[in-house]
Amino acid sequence: MKVLTAIGARPQFIKAAPVSAALAAAGVSEVLVHSGQHYDHGMSQIFFDELGLRAPDVHLGVGSGSHAEQTAKMLVGFERVIVRERPDWVIVHGDTNSTLAAALAAAKLQTKIAHNEAGLRSFNRAMPEEHNRVLTDHCSDMLMCPTQSAAEQLRREGIERGVHVVGDVMYDACLRFGALAEQRSRVLAQLGLAAKKYLLVTLHRPYTVDSPERLGRILGALGRAGEPVILPQHPRLALRLREQGKSVAGNIKLIDPVGYLDMQQLEKHARMILTDSGGVQKESYFHGVPCVTLRPETEWTETVAAGWNKVVDADEQAITQCVHERFWPDARPQLFGAGDAAQRIVAVLTSAQRSSATS
Ligand code: UD1
Ligand code: UDP
Repeated sequence: MKVLTAIGARPQFIKAAPVSAALAAAGVSEVLVHSGQHYDHGMSQIFFDELGLRAPDVHLGVGSGSHAEQTAKMLVGFERVIVRERPDWVIVHGDTNSTLAAALAAAKLQTKIAHNEAGLRSFNRAMPEEHNRVLTDHCSDMLMCPTQSAAEQLRREGIERGVHVVGDVMYDACLRFGALAEQRSRVLAQLGLAAKKYLLVTLHRPYTVDSPERLGRILGALGRAGEPVILPQHPRLALRLREQGKSVAGNIKLIDPVGYLDMQQLEKHARMILTDSGGVQKESYFHGVPCVTLRPETEWTETVAAGWNKVVDADEQAITQCVHERFWPDARPQLFGAGDAAQRIVAVLTSAQRSSATS
């Protein structure tokens, strides 16, 4: 069996790492294709170095652009590689433009698609990711769901075949690299931080950072938090802060984006995490750190139902209240599988391949 894995943006390198390792362990041949959506060292190469992900076999070098421009270039690039490599499966991760482009190219070439992180919905069509997810799910052959509710959502949309609840590969990554992060990362000492005495914040969604008012309200509340706030800046945030001419209060420390190992340490030892990221919401739950989601909604509703995630949008008062209140319970049920999602994905694909070979 031959698999082509499409990656391109930061969270996809993290999601691909455990799956690529599981494919290699099962003796499956994998062609790794990087779209080039993220290209700064701290947004791309560092994850390959830290997570043992081998260098991409093909780099499309697409870079940044408008949605149409970026997606179109990727579509052409992925199509060429799929035609040349003739994989049995194309694996796509998450909900970025790289995900959609690879899925669409594969669908038109009648190459089977496995979508990891299928069935997630925000029901907010203003988010580019929502279109990417819905369209990718509806052209995929195997839908790997991190949770039962994701599978139920697919059924509501009429997708019944090829749906598998496998758990979350980001939980696999967190378990797999936790000890390494503990061993290698010096980030707390470098930033002069004491465990549980700071807040960790990430902001990168266009909905948050492209709006001077929303970003201003969030930064205002963080500036009045009364404790250190560490904010690793996604390039989109850094760009918008410059464009909007915004400065931040003295307790907010803006730093460059960090690698996965430093990020895990920063998350694990934070008193609280405030974010508009999908992956970071889940990771706070993995680490048992309460999370405040700075968006109007979340795809990861299980973490909210469990009481560990508060969705507050860019509401200054609500942010301040969460920062000063103990809102989370003691219990933290296991919501994202058993840390073997990557192996389960590979088992589903190899078994489907065996059945199609014998039919
Ligand atoms: C993308 C994904 C989003 C995901 C995020 C993860 C889409 C539509 N969005 O958003 O779902 O949550 O990645 O981080 O696919 N830039 C750099 N250096 C880089 C990469 C980007 O400077 O290495 C800057 C460019 O100015 C670029 C901007 O960041 O225009 C946005 O990058 P882009 O990949 O288009 O979207 P993200 O906001 O990163
Ligand atoms: N991350 C990281 N360094 C950072 C910020 C995030 O390694 O400076 C990791 C984070 O731990 C998580 C992933 O990037 O594993 C989340 O990616 P991001 O927030 O960019 O995208 P999203 O998950 O919202 O699509």
